[in-house]
Amino acid sequence: MTETAFPHRHLLGIADLSAADIVQVLDLGDTFLEIGERPIKKVPTLRGRTVINLFFENSTRTRTSFEIAAKRMSADAVNISAAASSTTKGETLIDTARNLMAMRPDVIVVRHAMGGAAHMLARSVDCAVVNAGDGQHEHPTQALLDAATIRRHKGRRDAPPDQQLAGLTVAIVGDIAHSRVARSNLLALTRLGAQVRLCAPWTLIPRGIEDLGGAETRARCRVVPQLAEALDGVDVVMMLRVQNERTGGEAPRFANTREFSRTYGLSPRTLGFAKPDAIVMHPGPINRGVELAPEVADGDRAVILEQVTWGVATRMAVLYLLGGVRGGEAAAA
Ligand code: NCD
Repeated sequence: MTETAFPHRHLLGIADLSAADIVQVLDLGDTFLEIGERPIKKVPTLRGRTVINLFFENSTRTRTSFEIAAKRMSADAVNISAAASSTTKGETLIDTARNLMAMRPDVIVVRHAMGGAAHMLARSVDCAVVNAGDGQHEHPTQALLDAATIRRHKGRRDAPPDQQLAGLTVAIVGDIAHSRVARSNLLALTRLGAQVRLCAPWTLIPRGIEDLGGAETRARCRVVPQLAEALDGVDVVMMLRVQNERTGGEAPRFANTREFSRTYGLSPRTLGFAKPDAIVMHPGPINRGVELAPEVADGDRAVILEQVTWGVATRMAVLYLLGGVRGGEAAAA
């Protein structure tokens, strides 16, 4: 494998990545995808490395995906979940991090309810840190696996990095306000050349979201609150769950779930607004019958389970780039 150095010590957000960095992860993920198809799904690439999954928020897909990714590359993966951690006994994140550091991990993968937690951790440890979701802020590996899935179906791998998704329009529909997936995807997809439409009731669209990535997102992102208009002629529909667990004591932002589902749900009828070959994506977990009708979730346009498969390959690529080649050591996949 030709080795280009990845110019980052950590993966904290898409905001830090150039189009070329994103494509480097995606290309490497492409080569790792095949390992999951083998009868023996293991390569020695990260043998002797230790990956700690430190999850302060619930997770099924992301935690498992990182664990499988680490194990497929022969790293030792250790999982720590919030309920089992000493934070419930009052330990601060920084103290937890220092104690974990004393065990000499190579990579810490962290998910936390607070925006900026991964950045804070990265400042206090001397191993690589991967953000697996920090509050409503970023979820970079989700955006990378989503970009990999879109590129596989609709993109141009041979184009320059900033044009690999050029000419495509992606509608991101649902609870944009509370979604780190929406923010990371907005940055990643526009950086690769796609146009993005954000669709939700105004109460679920943060003011100024189009400016999130500066001139690039300003030029390529549009807020379109009407579902029919947002989906009109798009190549990709990405649906998001309403994140009730993040609304805390806030006043409700829409009348009720039934109303939300009727106005913003993707059904065979509303999918009809998109291009006939548009793909349907969802980061999971799906609230069946709310944002996504079961016929669509299980239909032949949905690539939702493919996203999960790409998730493992993409995370293998991330762990390889951050935890594999250190101190001049060469690692071969
Ligand atoms: C998302 C998350 O946790 O941000 N899920 C995921 O990582 N696959 C989205 C969600 O919880 O709705």
